[in-house]
Amino acid sequence: MEMDFYFYFVCCFLIFFSKASTAIDTISVSESLTDGKTLVSGGGSFALGFFSPDPSSNNSYLGIWYHNDPNKTVVWVANRIHPINNSTAVLKIEESSGRVVLQLQNTTAVWSTNMKASVQNPVLQLLDSGNLVLRDGKDSNPEHYLWQSFDYPSDTMLPGMKIGIDLRTGFERRLSAWKNWDDPSPGDLTYGVELEGAPEMGLRKGLKKYALSGLWIRNGFSGIRDVRSNPIYDYDFVWNESEVYYTFSLKNKSRMSRVVLNQTESVRTRYTWNQETQTWESYATRPSDNCDKYGVCGPNGNCDNNMLPVCQCLTGFKPKWPERWKSSDYSEGCIHSKPVNCQRGDGFITIRRVKSPDIKNLRVNKGMNLKECKTECSRNCSCMAYTNLDFTRDGGSGCAMWFGDLVDIKQFQSGSDGMDLHIRVSASETELMEKSKAITLATVVAALLGCLLVVCYILRTRRKLKVEAEDTNANDKENRDENEDLELAVFEFETITKATSNFSFRNKLGQGGFGPVYKGTLTNGQEIAHRNLVRLLGCCIHGDERMLVYEYMPNRSLDYFIFDQTRREVLTWSKRFQIISGIARGLLYLHQDSRLRIIHRDLKVSNVLLDGEMNPKISDFGMARTFGGDQIEDITSRIVGTYGYMAPEYATDGLFSVKSDVFSFGIVLLEVITGRKNRGFYHANRSGNLIEHTWMLWAEGNPSDIVDDFLVETGDLPELLRCIHISLLCVQQHPEERPSMSYVVLMLGSRNELPSPKQPGFLFCNKPFEADSSPDNEGSSSRNEISLSTLEAR
Ligand SMILES: *[C@@H]1O[C@H](CO)[C@@H](O)[C@H](O)[C@H]1NC(C)=O
Ligand SMILES: *[C@@H]1O[C@H](CO)[C@@H](O)[C@H](O)[C@H]1NC(C)=O
Ligand SMILES: *[C@@H]1O[C@H](CO)[C@@H](O)[C@H](O)[C@H]1NC(C)=O
Ligand SMILES: *[C@@H]1O[C@H](CO)[C@@H](O)[C@H](O)[C@H]1NC(C)=O
Ligand SMILES: *[C@@H]1O[C@H](CO)[C@@H](O)[C@H](O)[C@H]1NC(C)=O
Ligand SMILES: *[C@@H]1O[C@H](CO)[C@@H](O)[C@H](O)[C@H]1NC(C)=O
Ligand SMILES: *[C@@H]1O[C@H](CO)[C@@H](O)[C@H](O)[C@H]1NC(C)=O
Ligand SMILES: *[C@@H]1O[C@H](CO)[C@@H](O)[C@H](O)[C@H]1NC(C)=O
Ligand SMILES: *[C@@H]1O[C@H](CO)[C@@H](O)[C@H](O)[C@H]1NC(C)=O
Repeated sequence: MEMDFYFYFVCCFLIFFSKASTAIDTISVSESLTDGKTLVSGGGSFALGFFSPDPSSNNSYLGIWYHNDPNKTVVWVANRIHPINNSTAVLKIEESSGRVVLQLQNTTAVWSTNMKASVQNPVLQLLDSGNLVLRDGKDSNPEHYLWQSFDYPSDTMLPGMKIGIDLRTGFERRLSAWKNWDDPSPGDLTYGVELEGAPEMGLRKGLKKYALSGLWIRNGFSGIRDVRSNPIYDYDFVWNESEVYYTFSLKNKSRMSRVVLNQTESVRTRYTWNQETQTWESYATRPSDNCDKYGVCGPNGNCDNNMLPVCQCLTGFKPKWPERWKSSDYSEGCIHSKPVNCQRGDGFITIRRVKSPDIKNLRVNKGMNLKECKTECSRNCSCMAYTNLDFTRDGGSGCAMWFGDLVDIKQFQSGSDGMDLHIRVSASETELMEKSKAITLATVVAALLGCLLVVCYILRTRRKLKVEAEDTNANDKENRDENEDLELAVFEFETITKATSNFSFRNKLGQGGFGPVYKGTLTNGQEIAHRNLVRLLGCCIHGDERMLVYEYMPNRSLDYFIFDQTRREVLTWSKRFQIISGIARGLLYLHQDSRLRIIHRDLKVSNVLLDGEMNPKISDFGMARTFGGDQIEDITSRIVGTYGYMAPEYATDGLFSVKSDVFSFGIVLLEVITGRKNRGFYHANRSGNLIEHTWMLWAEGNPSDIVDDFLVETGDLPELLRCIHISLLCVQQHPEERPSMSYVVLMLGSRNELPSPKQPGFLFCNKPFEADSSPDNEGSSSRNEISLSTLEAR
């Protein structure tokens, strides 16, 4: 439909304006294009003409470039291999055959369209999509192209282009990089469809696979993080009897975005045009990390960026050569820990959120559901894994089975990324898994002073807590899990003593503000849903003692990582960004989505715990206050919290609201970006704390100076700067000027323009009532430190 409309628009344009304007977009038989002349597409987006990548050389090429880009960024080259050297060339339509040819001095053709049909009235036209098309001027169907440049892409993918294979003819459209910035001839880095048992997209270097996208599951590639909600582009992958291809389109047709291969860097990068600065900005790059590169962890290895080392054997597997594995040689990969044995029957274990293994040795049965798939796979001893496959997008099913080693698996962390893979292991292995699954560790907090306000509320009313799903991208199964009603369990005292070996010293984790913290193991442990708040599993009242049972967070708290010179590298920028977004969602839940409006009052990096997958969970509701649905703020005479994180109006006047939490969030955000503490920040030439310092750098236009060097090297600088901007908005002096958490979540998830921050609320730490403030966990390794020494009366 759009194309039709577009075409008529072009026609009108031609009829009414072509005579007046010098820009033309077509060539017919009697016309030609020579050096120095250009065709400009109807809407003025693209131009076709001759260009020299290196003006000091004699080589020139016929190409298409962005007409509005002062640097004339080239998107397509006709004569990639045969440059025109020191001579004049002419582009014209050959009268006899109707072919388009690029001729040198009337004699040799350096390039021509390879088409068979001869046409009476051929017309060459540059469309506003950047597609150069040849059609029959007499043909009533304007979209019937005899030839089009989109079928012969160079290094650039434009919106509307299909990169893939026509399965009826076998014709393939594939990108190939320029050899060098001054040489458009094809390098060995190429990008296109990989088609074996099923299709996926892949980069190749020469004949070798270099970075694969993973299978398309539901509506995205299993090896690429879900980016559906990005503001720039939409994408699709089509696989049916007639064709298989990847394509993208622009959400806003007036934006510009392109995907380019770069030979020297061996990457595929998406650029988007920034209208204000009039430059191309790199939007995303693949491979984005080592785990994206093909098979880095060898057969049956799992690449996990959040682990050190990144290569792990799949569950149920062990390194084939342990010594080599230890010395970081992963090429030989892993083998089953216990050999599979078809006669005695094997089992399957499920690994979640992974990129699909390489499609070699893959067999697909589109008509089978998951259960049939499992039966089929368990029947054949060489079937190593299976998964549910859905190319149809309408909730249909399909079965994918791998025969042989599983290569190129990558581990994802967050909800909707990756897919589930069911791997064959020996029966004894699955029994082991079942047992360990039943044992979920839990932390037991022996609360000496009494139940927390929130908890008491929950306990007293004994109401069911409905846990709302936060991650809208989560797949159906997870939504179901998360929507289940949960009731706060009341544990027998005996259970707790047993779990902690009678509160044995060995199980003591540390001392919190409320009392000692023990680690314990509950035999009836439940599986833990993915959310951004530490889950309270239950409570126990024994005489005067009140105990709270929390889920156990094996990875400790955020400060354990970001303030440590070596451990900080575990948290790459993308991981940090995920953590920041998780904290924002958790806080938003407290402020808005939970039935009670909850003000945390002591948000700080040491109160953000990380689970085994580095998902952040806000903990320690020791000071939280609940509000009625419409209550906005409150005043307290007892100020509790942690200096360095407290909003000025709270620290000085005891005024607290959701906006004082937003302030603390702003500080947490800044600390995560900079890897430095707000409190105790020291700079040789400057005075003041981290906020003040950031504000000064911001005013000077150098905000990036504050960022942790290691993040600048590996991170996405525009995203980093955006987060600094957001943090400054959160720490503004006046609470009413600070954004709400819902707005913060929105800002983090989009690339829309942000308001300018005003003067932040500076607060110096050395105030006399410091004694009441909690320790900032300086150098402390206890995670569950509770930052309050006495509980205020209600
Ligand atoms: C360009 O062509 C001229 C004449 O053929 C030649 O002398 C000159 O070296 C060439 N320049 C380059 C950079 O190749
Ligand atoms: C132009 O290139 C051809 C081969 O591509 C070469 O034979 C010829 O010498 C070149 N001419 C000039 C002037 O460089
Ligand atoms: C070839 O190159 C020489 C020197 O660079 C230049 O003078 C001459 O005009 C060029 N010839 C053509 C046909 O471009
Ligand atoms: C190319 O052909 C045109 C006419 O066909 C003629 O006018 C022109 O002189 C020729 N140029 C050369 C360099 O032979
Ligand atoms: C690849 O990227 C680098 C760095 O951005 C750039 O300098 C180089 O010119 C690019 N190479 C090609 C072939 O475009
Ligand atoms: C394949 O999918 C494309 C795009 O959805 C569609 O245009 C085409 O008709 C389909 N072909 C078949 C045979 O289903
Ligand atoms: C599309 O982008 C243009 C230029 O960036 C902008 O002016 C326009 O408002 C956008 N349209 C929509 C619907 O977002
Ligand atoms: C053009 O390219 C130069 C050099 O690569 C770069 O510095 C400049 O920013 C670019 N300009 C635009 C408008 O892209
Ligand atoms: C198992 O699958 C492999 C690979 O498809 C096949 O070659 C073999 O014949 C199958 N074996 C049985 C017993 O079905």
